[in-house]
Amino acid sequence: MRFAAAVAGCLLAATASAGEVRAPATFLSSDLRALQEDASRHPGWLWVDEGEALWKAAPATARPSCQGCHGDISSMRGVAARYPAVASDGALLNLEGRIERCRAQNQSAPAFGHESEALLSLTAAVALRSRGMPFSVATDGPAARFLAEGRRFYETRQGQLNLSCGQCHDENVGRRLRGDVISNGIGTGFPAYRLEWNAMGSLHRRLRACSLGVRATQFPYGSAEYLALELYLAARAQGLPVEAPGIRR
Ligand code: HEC
Ligand code: HEC
Repeated sequence: MRFAAAVAGCLLAATASAGEVRAPATFLSSDLRALQEDASRHPGWLWVDEGEALWKAAPATARPSCQGCHGDISSMRGVAARYPAVASDGALLNLEGRIERCRAQNQSAPAFGHESEALLSLTAAVALRSRGMPFSVATDGPAARFLAEGRRFYETRQGQLNLSCGQCHDENVGRRLRGDVISNGIGTGFPAYRLEWNAMGSLHRRLRACSLGVRATQFPYGSAEYLALELYLAARAQGLPVEAPGIRR
């Protein structure tokens, strides 16, 4: 608690005001930025390779493989830049959720499960096909309600530290906290390989870490709360490039 109070004190003392939203790569050390661009050294490529293998493999039920319906994975170009998106049945799906839906409805196979190696791998391999492309999520029509929910979440003070997302990711951008430089928190590099995790992880895993950081409720992976928040973050990132698979401390 003493540490928590110190964090809050340090942040509230700041007078910086909200500015433009910048790509997360611009906050990385030059070493990490170079690593993120180097497929031969980026540990996340182990997941990408696995995802590309899964794309071609038919599940045991002998249903079509992803490739069997979609063709080469290059057909996924630009897809990640449009997610989260509202599906035809009105559900808000992120990329993981969309893949799980194909798995259940189009392959009649059991879900991979949140944070499973298979789902992270497929998500990373699909997201890679949009790397460098500008985020362009739909925010109107059926998405508007989710966007408003996400925005409310983002702006609400939470946890024992009583901090909103924006108090760190807008008002304290560029300052150091626990060895990190605070970015705009838009999540365009996820799924990302985090050195602290020694593994690939989803955006929701990162959001859970931020919730814990302010001693607030950690919502479940794939929860309505984090999905709406993810849409709001993507809307903040409109026009900024997909960085996934990212590399983070
Ligand atoms: C039986 C055919 C079939 C199989 C097998 C299949 N899909 Fe799909 N997938 C579809 C169809 C059809 C859609 C479009 C659905 C829609 O737009 O409502 C789709 C949509 C998607 C999308 C969203 C595309 C977009 O433009 O928004 C992704 C991502 C995706 N599939 C990934 C996968 C992955 C990964 C696998 C393997 C685990 C897979 N699919 C297996 C038929 C299939
Ligand atoms: C006490 C300050 C603090 C609060 C409050 C906070 N975060 Fe963070 N967050 C951080 C720090 C520090 C990092 C790691 C450095 C960075 O990438 O910004 C981080 C990282 C992130 C990242 C990963 C960025 C990347 O590219 O790796 C996202 C996304 C994120 N936060 C979103 C949120 C959201 C959404 C909320 C509100 C629910 C929130 N954060 C609340 C401090 C905070």
